Amino acid sequence: ATERTLSIIKPDAVAKNAIGEIIARFEKAGLKVVAAKMLHLSDEQAGGFYAEHKERPFFKDLVGFMTSGPVVVQVLEGDDAIAKNRDLMGATNPKEAAPGTIRADFAETIDANAVHGSDSPASAEREVAYFFSADEIHSR
Ligand code: CMP
Repeated sequence: ATERTLSIIKPDAVAKNAIGEIIARFEKAGLKVVAAKMLHLSDEQAGGFYAEHKERPFFKDLVGFMTSGPVVVQVLEGDDAIAKNRDLMGATNPKEAAPGTIRADFAETIDANAVHGSDSPASAEREVAYFFSADEIHSR
């Protein structure tokens, strides 16, 4: 079924000048960018986005990293978009990511892991709405 998912190109990948290469992978896999913007997240924005991880030991470092530079947030649309994006990204820890995945090719550490993608339909709905209003999404 056609789905939408939220993708974030994280500060490490933006700093590496890899925005275009990463978006090209989404497009080549049949995902369409239907919304996009560059943001430099505040502590409140990053902490709210990752609220489910609030009690985890890595939460402070995660917020610190996600606010360390600009990110590119996008809504990707396509058949099976949530799982497709997760396949393209590879495992959260780049050391465990399959060859040819975005994290294997662009990420160094579990903190600086190049990209985020929604992990379920429920989180995709919340995450898309966290960054985009309906009139900013250009379904096509
Ligand atoms: P992301 O998919 O953006 O969701 C939460 C992020 O926390 C994750 O990617 C990692 O970059 C980061 N993180 C740091 N340590 C861990 C950990 N032990 N387990 C899961 N995520 C972690």
